[in-house]
Amino acid sequence: MATSKSPSKRRSTKKAPSRTSRSRSSSKAGSTVPRITGANAGKATDILQARLYSLLDLQLTLKHIHWNVTGPTFISVHEMLDPQVLSVREMSDAVAERIATLGSAPWGTPGAIVEGRSWDDYDLGRDSTEAHLNKLDAVYRGVIEDHREALEQLEELDPVSEDLLTGQLADLELFAWFIRSHLGN
Ligand SMILES: [Fe+2]
Repeated sequence: MATSKSPSKRRSTKKAPSRTSRSRSSSKAGSTVPRITGANAGKATDILQARLYSLLDLQLTLKHIHWNVTGPTFISVHEMLDPQVLSVREMSDAVAERIATLGSAPWGTPGAIVEGRSWDDYDLGRDSTEAHLNKLDAVYRGVIEDHREALEQLEELDPVSEDLLTGQLADLELFAWFIRSHLGN
């Protein structure tokens, strides 16, 4: 993950467009909530599914860094990341359950994440805290930008989903500040 701008902004290379959750063969549409049309529910769940891929990817990446970071400040970074993993995991659960509530199937399988994401895999293994946190700063920037864009799109489609992402954004921005502060930025 390197630069920013939509998920592709998070990491360097853009992949080919992929199918949405609704095109998966075993996906059956369910009924949605009152006063939201099926069309708008579909648009909202497509946006939420993209956020689900991003949050699932983020929680795995945070654990990967937790395991691979090295250096004199290892323990502080190692221990800082686990609460973030738990929080992001809860975010992904809430987004997935909102997708289900709106009548679509949330897709959280490893294959779906890889197919649905538009950014390359995190590419640092065992490395210094500075190297990992600089990368993670870029990752958070991408996730935050995409969350903001998504909640703006959801404003007209589904204020409940917009509110959900708004609450998550506060925590994501807080975690990003932790990372920047650790870097002295
Ligand atoms: Fe651990």
